[in-house]
Amino acid sequence: MSSAFDRQATEYDAARGGLERGRQAARDLLPHLAPGTVLDVGVGTGAVAAALHAADREVLGADLSLPMLHQAVNRLGSAVVCADATALPFASRSVGNVLFAHVLHLVDDLDGAVAEAARVLRPGGRLLALHGSPEPETEDDVVAAMAVLDDLQRARRDSPEAITRAGRAGGLEPVTSLPAAAHPRAMSPSAFAGSLERREPSFVLGLSEEEFARRVGPVVAALRALPDPEAARRQVWRVRLTVLARLR
Ligand SMILES: C[S@@+](CC[C@H](N)C(=O)[O-])C[C@H]1O[C@@H](n2cnc3c(N)ncnc32)[C@H](O)[C@@H]1O
Repeated sequence: MSSAFDRQATEYDAARGGLERGRQAARDLLPHLAPGTVLDVGVGTGAVAAALHAADREVLGADLSLPMLHQAVNRLGSAVVCADATALPFASRSVGNVLFAHVLHLVDDLDGAVAEAARVLRPGGRLLALHGSPEPETEDDVVAAMAVLDDLQRARRDSPEAITRAGRAGGLEPVTSLPAAAHPRAMSPSAFAGSLERREPSFVLGLSEEEFARRVGPVVAALRALPDPEAARRQVWRVRLTVLARLR
């Protein structure tokens, strides 16, 4: 999985809303954080972590992908480590918050990652997850062309129920689960087609060559055939924020 992000590390921010998306995520997260450090697991390029740091929170980052971490180092300095979500190099009960921002759908062992988060959280600490398939709030020709892949986009393991269930097994109690703030993005049909061809969106990562050609090939062609394919469409997307707490 890390190799998929290794390949897109330099383009990741431009394709996913960059620092503005990070600032928006931080606005969603800040009211729900417990006191103390935020350990951002799957920190990626550090877009969200940097915004939390700018809001005076101490932030640590962990990620499997060295190229993604290389981008994060430019933002967070040495406060990052290369590690798997299921084996964090941090002491038990040592951090105030564990954040998973758009990560839990990528982790093979969601239960193991949530259990590991529960282990490193100190009493009173919180697990925060930005998760779930991004739901479009705007209609346009790109959203319409992508609709035939909705089943792939929604076939994710990071449902609120799965996260809450894994949390309870690790001794975490649910606090809240709510839609995160809407997130604007501007992307042209041809940029989106290129991103699909490079297999950047996570929902195409697991497809075989045959499935990719059969399911995604026609969508790439349809996107390229749209009128004005280089013109960015302004879209608004929304994901979910789920918060769990270690009470003792
Ligand atoms: C979609 S990106 C999100 C990055 C960042 N949280 C953000 O919102 O910008 C997912 C990140 O999770 C990392 N990742 C995937 N599986 C992981 C695992 N098992 N342990 C640690 N990091 C993982 C990837 O390398 C990638 O950097």
